[in-house]
Amino acid sequence: MNGSIVNDNIAAPRILMCPPDHFGIEYEINAWMDKNKQADRPLAINQWRDLREKLEQAGASIELIDPVQGLPDMVFTANAGLVFYDEVILSRFKPEQRRGEEPLNQAWFEANGFRVRTLPDDTFFEGAGDALFCGDTLVAGYRQRSDARGQQLLGDLLGCHVIPLELVDPHYYHLDTCFCPIEPGVAMYFPGAFDEYGLKVLRANVKTLIEIDADEATHFAANAVVVGKTIVTNSGCEKMHAKLAAAGYTPVGTPLSEFVKAGGSAKCLTLRLDGEEAASWKGSIENRFAG
Ligand code: ARG
Repeated sequence: MNGSIVNDNIAAPRILMCPPDHFGIEYEINAWMDKNKQADRPLAINQWRDLREKLEQAGASIELIDPVQGLPDMVFTANAGLVFYDEVILSRFKPEQRRGEEPLNQAWFEANGFRVRTLPDDTFFEGAGDALFCGDTLVAGYRQRSDARGQQLLGDLLGCHVIPLELVDPHYYHLDTCFCPIEPGVAMYFPGAFDEYGLKVLRANVKTLIEIDADEATHFAANAVVVGKTIVTNSGCEKMHAKLAAAGYTPVGTPLSEFVKAGGSAKCLTLRLDGEEAASWKGSIENRFAG
């Protein structure tokens, strides 16, 4: 009963982005980054604008955090934290090159009405890059950037069921590079990023899994932004787009080559602030705080 009342209250999906004014490949902290393969900044700025425009066309309202010189990866707002209702679990980055982002993210969340929570100091956690709701369950990737222990703590903190999945391929170092919830019970995934056990667990917990092939996984097909029925990805993911279209979604491609050089794509460049489409808590904030 409750849920349906609140869902009538339609507000624009809110997405946090950070302009790429200071974006570049200044260090190498994942398998994609190579300082000898620099990003073309003017092109990156255009690609970012096009992504923003496509998200707005899909109905999203974009909020911005100011970019800071010396923090080239701050564009990847997915890693700022994990949003849950009006709370955010702040990221604690494993690579020290990104740690300077933490206080800036914290300040932005506080200024924008979020209650900021943190995991213990020695626990690495990289936000929505490694933790995604699919229905009532938090699917969480560990080993390369986030710690398994932190993900158990997250479950206790948020009171939700967590499925920790080991990420076994260095190219798919964040969960959002190989897994994308679309709506409760539906997700896309690249099987090659998981081990046998992880695949078993995923298949047992997500009713409909749309498979991405190896070739399109390298184009970051899994790194998709879902806004209603629209699914925005890097260009070059036609096979996956055909599957999505056949399933009733509206796939949209947009070139993001410069961000792929940093190991990121559409989803990494965004943080959904009002709940992902696949999160069953989405749209029920009033329920939670109704008393
Ligand atoms: N160069 C960035 C890093 O290695 C890319 C982050 C991509 N973000 C993501 N959510 N997958 O941290």
